[in-house]
Amino acid sequence: MKERDFLSIDDLSPSELNDLLDAADAVKRDPASWRDRLDGKSIAMIFEKPSTRTRVSFEVAVSSMGGHPVVLRADELHLGRDETIEDTGRALSRYVAAIVVRTFGQDRLERLAEAADVPVVNALSDFSHPCQGLADLQTLREKKGHLRGVRLAYVGDGNNVAHSLMFGGTKMGMDVRVASPSGYEPFPQVVERCLELAGDSGGSLTVTHDVEQAVAGADAVYTDVWASMGQPPEGRATTFADYQVGPGLIELAGSDAVVMHCLPAHRGAEITADVLDGPRSVVWDQAENRLHVQKAILSWLLHRRG
Ligand code: CP
Ligand code: NVA
Repeated sequence: MKERDFLSIDDLSPSELNDLLDAADAVKRDPASWRDRLDGKSIAMIFEKPSTRTRVSFEVAVSSMGGHPVVLRADELHLGRDETIEDTGRALSRYVAAIVVRTFGQDRLERLAEAADVPVVNALSDFSHPCQGLADLQTLREKKGHLRGVRLAYVGDGNNVAHSLMFGGTKMGMDVRVASPSGYEPFPQVVERCLELAGDSGGSLTVTHDVEQAVAGADAVYTDVWASMGQPPEGRATTFADYQVGPGLIELAGSDAVVMHCLPAHRGAEITADVLDGPRSVVWDQAENRLHVQKAILSWLLHRRG
């Protein structure tokens, strides 16, 4: 029987989260000493949505740790026709050491995890994007030196990326603010859970429609696409117009604030080109850290004891 899956940052205790960030830093410093970590292990990766960073960073992570990545698009599997996600998981469990999956509903991930005998990793669902969240925390810790008390303002759709930042940030004692338009707030159950987490960690969480309130004095300003994969884009340009991260908004943040984006970016929509490509932007460090974090996650899942 497998011991663990990684479906959400909320699956991790604060100390496990901290250990994973330390491991990601360690492999970033010395990738050569991780070269045999997945020796002889094959890892399946199922993509039901497009991907650039997640797909390539996982594939490179596996091969550079001595494993064999098997990358599968749903439309080339029977999963894309009429085989269930459970049967896909049962069959793949007989061949591979772990299954990484990018999909739609979190329920699909949970069903796969329940049926599979090997660890399942969430490579993005409509609900959360935990691997991205870990890379973002690694990046923030590098830039700010610590996480406790760091003020992170997320501006935009309160969905997958926002949820993972909320879970991770409140577990690490950060001051997390989320500004979204009406109708695009984070899920109420995530807000409720993260308020509890913030209470335990000494952090805080503010959820608002007021973008200026969220960004005032922030150490980091984060945004994401206005229309996530699988979501209808119609009407969003109007709904989200006041939530664009541009130079005026950044002026309200702290003088050494960094700008973050999970990518892919749409210059002129959720973020202006001058801000995305400007001196405060750390988006390419975030993208790089996906690689180090994926190594840490797979190694932890496949080598953990107790
Ligand atoms: N940020 C992220 O997950 O990018 P991809 O969709 O390119 O994987
Ligand atoms: N919220 C975005 C993130 C892309 C990495 C989406 O789900 O499309």
